[in-house]
Amino acid sequence: MINEIITQIQTAPATVTENPKFKVREHWDAPIEYQGQLVLHHLRLCSYGTGIPHYFSELAEAIINRWFGVLEAVKSPLIQFGREHLLNELRAEAGTLTDEEAAAEYERFVHFPDHMQQVSVFEGFAGYGGASFGLRRSGIPHVVIGMSEFDPFASQLLAQNFPNIHNWGDITKINAEELPDFDLFTGGFPCQPFSSAGMQLGVEDPYGRGTLIYHILRIVQAKHPQYLLLENVKGLTQKKFADTFENIKNILRDLGYGELAYAVLNSKDYGIPQNRERLWMFARLGGLPVGFDIVPPKEPLLRRFGDLLDDNPPQELYLSQAQIAHLKEKHHIDSFIVEEPLCFDVYNKKIKRDAICITITQPEHNSLRVIEVPGPDGLEVVRKMSIDEQFRFMGFENGELNYAGQSYSQMSKRAGNGWDVNLVGKLLRHIFAQL
Ligand SMILES: C[S@@+](CC[C@H](N)C(=O)[O-])C[C@H]1O[C@@H](n2cnc3c(N)ncnc32)[C@H](O)[C@@H]1O
Repeated sequence: MINEIITQIQTAPATVTENPKFKVREHWDAPIEYQGQLVLHHLRLCSYGTGIPHYFSELAEAIINRWFGVLEAVKSPLIQFGREHLLNELRAEAGTLTDEEAAAEYERFVHFPDHMQQVSVFEGFAGYGGASFGLRRSGIPHVVIGMSEFDPFASQLLAQNFPNIHNWGDITKINAEELPDFDLFTGGFPCQPFSSAGMQLGVEDPYGRGTLIYHILRIVQAKHPQYLLLENVKGLTQKKFADTFENIKNILRDLGYGELAYAVLNSKDYGIPQNRERLWMFARLGGLPVGFDIVPPKEPLLRRFGDLLDDNPPQELYLSQAQIAHLKEKHHIDSFIVEEPLCFDVYNKKIKRDAICITITQPEHNSLRVIEVPGPDGLEVVRKMSIDEQFRFMGFENGELNYAGQSYSQMSKRAGNGWDVNLVGKLLRHIFAQL
């Protein structure tokens, strides 16, 4: 009897796939157990408030409706359960999950089938290749077909980490017609003109950095990529730059990209103990699906500042006792004796007791010191952060980035300007699961 019902469910007309929201046919045609899991995952996560997109909610609802439509048709005794009863049963399972389990369930739920079409990518303003590293994390089948980066040190870093990817150099000099076709443009265009740490001159920036976004739009106009993923500081959404941001949105609308989705995301909400807020923007040619939500479900923070520090940091990073005494006097700090490693925010004269790192910035704005637990001699221990540590706070695993031959200051510059590759992986995964 059950087999008969399952066969009927599987052969039921997929009318709902006519709806543009249900374009992902593999869900609809998936084996019945997978559909069941999908419904269960959805109900658990949705009622757990992890912010799973509405899209999944409707898909789960549609699957349940489909099952019950068929069950009714065959007059199965199972119909006695009733649709509401099943929903309640499933909902009752929610709330038994911890935040951590709910986040893990979500990760398991989002997966890309092997036959998913490969996404070709052009990485603008590549820095250390944050988009490329993030894409590797995301599980999205992809190929990076080109990059644009004009800083000689960053270009060298890219060459040694992505030797087969052509770097087109200065974006302002690129003839868009010469670029190969690609599906996704990524770009963290320079943020100094919109950053609270800078002069906030926006498009008036004397170095022309405020208008680089228009070079992105120029390339987009010529190449019509399917997707755009852009990043900047949250200052761009503030009143002072409202005209620029509106202008960007209007141009994208005119180019056929519909409404730009955007949100300020913080690294500490996605597993990395760094307070790093960045504005993320995504658009799709033809517009985004109804109910699209750019914000991935937040995760509980399981790692503390000390968890990302080196076991044996380089000796030259340590401050002398005289330097520590000077730091204390200058910033009115009574003591640097701590019970776990913590971050000292020099600019705000604060020891960060929440064990979350302040924003990793470019060296010229660097306001960060590491405070270690004193050794057997009981003396205070304060030092600068190592390169490996800075990159762990940017989401990297040990040895993932080859920075041979690069200086401390160049690498600190890269880290301060870069993308949190852990967050980027999760963001891309979350975005593409909805398309
Ligand atoms: C905010 S950073 C982006 C970092 C990058 N997303 C990453 O993960 O490392 C901006 C980058 O754009 C580069 N850049 C600035 N102006 C450029 C231009 N005209 N053409 C190409 N790259 C440029 C800078 O050197 C810098 O590396």
